[in-house]
Parts: sequence; C-alpha cells; structure tokens
Amino acid sequence: MAYETIKSETRGRTGLITLNRPKAMNALSQQMMREICQAAEDFDHDGRIGAIVLTGTDKAFAAGADVKEMEAYEYSEAYLQDLWAGWDRLTRVRKPLIAAVGGYALGGGCEVAMMCDILIAAENAKFGQPEITLGILPGMGGTQRLARSIGKAKTMDLVLTGRMMDAKEAESCGLVSRIVPTADLLEETLKIAEKVADFSLPAVLAAKEAVVEAFETPLASGLRHERRLFHASFATEDQTEGMAAFVQKRGPQFKNR
Ligand code: CAA
Repeated sequence: MAYETIKSETRGRTGLITLNRPKAMNALSQQMMREICQAAEDFDHDGRIGAIVLTGTDKAFAAGADVKEMEAYEYSEAYLQDLWAGWDRLTRVRKPLIAAVGGYALGGGCEVAMMCDILIAAENAKFGQPEITLGILPGMGGTQRLARSIGKAKTMDLVLTGRMMDAKEAESCGLVSRIVPTADLLEETLKIAEKVADFSLPAVLAAKEAVVEAFETPLASGLRHERRLFHASFATEDQTEGMAAFVQKRGPQFKNR
C-alpha cells in the first residue's frame, strides 16, 4: 500500500513503521493517524510478522498533533468526528508494538508512544505534554495513560506546566524501559523486536493481552483472566516444545511464530 506520511517495511520478522513528515517534526495529522493504524493492522494480520516497531527521525518521534491542521477546528467539528478516537485502532493491535523514540515525543507524540507496549528511548529523547501552552489539554490519552504509567505527581507536573523531561527522567519514572545511544536506537530496538518475534506467537499475544488487562480491570478479575490465558497456553504445541526443550537442555523450536 502506498503511504504519504509514513514508511512501512519489513525487517526480518518485524514490521517497521517510520513516521515520515520530517519537515513538520512528524506532526500527527489525521492522515498520518489513519496511515499508521492501517500499516499496524496490516502487520497484525500478516502471518510472517511477530512484532511491530514504530519510530520517527532522530530529531522527532513526533512533536504532537498537527497544530496547523487543528488551528481552525471548532467544537462541533471536533466533537462530531470524535477527534482522535481513530487511534483506538492502534490500541486494538494484538501483536507487540515497540516505540523507538528519538528526539521530541511531545503531546500526541508522547501519547502515541504510550499506546505502544515497550518504549525504548534514545539518549536525546524528550517527552512532554505541552498542550497547556496552546490553551488545550491532551486529547489522545495523555492524562490517563501518563497517570497510570508514572503516577499523579509527575503527570500533573508535566500536564500543568507543559515542561519536557529527558530520557533519564523518563526511565527513572518508568515511562520508558530502556535508554540506548541515539545512533543505535533503531538497531537496538529491532533486536528487541526480533527477540520477541522469535517466541511462540500465541504465548506473546496472550502475555500482551494479560498485561493490558492490568490497566483495564480490578486486580481480582485481572488475575482470573491471566490464569485462564495461562491455562490455555497448555493447549499449544509451543508449550509442549518449550518445556521439552528446557528439560532436554536445548533451544526451543517454536512452530507458531
Ligand atoms: N504541529 C504542526 N507543525 C509542527 C508541530 C506540530 N505539533 N511541531 C513542529 N511543527 C513544525 C513547525 O511549525 C515548523 O514548521 P515551519 O518550518 O513550517 O515553520 C517545523 O515543524 C520545525 O519546527 P520548529 O521550527 O519549531 O523546530 P524547533 O527545533 O525550533 O522546535 C519543537 C521543535 C520544540 C518540537 C517545536 O516545534 C514545538 O514546540 N512544537 C509543538 C509542540 C506541541 O505543542 N505539541 C503539542 C501539539 S497539540 C497535541 O498534541 C494535542 C493532543 O494531545 C492530541
């Protein structure tokens, strides 16, 4: 499929989506949202793919929703089209989404990174929710996902002051899981994606589903859901293979990858 605002390609068993509006700091237009979601859904349905990486340029993962596009919006327009609800498509992708964040991840950029399952930051990454400086507030999930991810204190600090935080602060508060040298961002992230893609896909999908559930339900039902998925994993040939390989002291050959 031909895209105008992103590049979509495969690297081994990884689907790689690169945001490609460098002159606009990868500002997220409505078209870009649709293209990212379409590319991610295509990889989700592609049997050769086991993980999906989302990245930008070394200057900007994405500097937020496209302010120039939004400037003229009125309330009724935003409300009637349920502005930014289109991103829900990305959150329904079942395969792991890994964000490789270099440079600015601001506003919607930070929010899209948080829709991903693993966040890897380059040393030069900067995160923030500067919407307050524009007279608005985050609208792609920033207040909710940040609060669940890094807690109330830092979320209020970022959302109410609009300040940016660097990669070290983002790692120390748990927004990102690893920091890598800026020049190695894509290579290191692709290695992580390939590692994930090499495991049993049913196990990977169930593991993601169970962790996502932790953000949606009370603990007791999340635990019950996890146990049911865990029980179901014993119905897969990959469980038989994975455990036999461990006992026989060899590497597993998963069939469902
Ligand atoms: N929307 C539209 N265009 C943007 C943009 C955005 N979010 N961010 C940057 N650009 C454009 C600039 O307008 C500029 O275009 P021109 O060359 O045509 O003037 C180009 O990208 C380069 O940007 P700068 O010259 O500003 O580059 P810089 O290095 O001086 O600054 C920056 C970089 C700090 C990221 C700065 O561009 C900036 O502050 N951007 C806006 C950040 C922002 O407010 N994001 C929140 C958007 S609202 C939102 O996301 C709502 C939501 O929750 C859904």
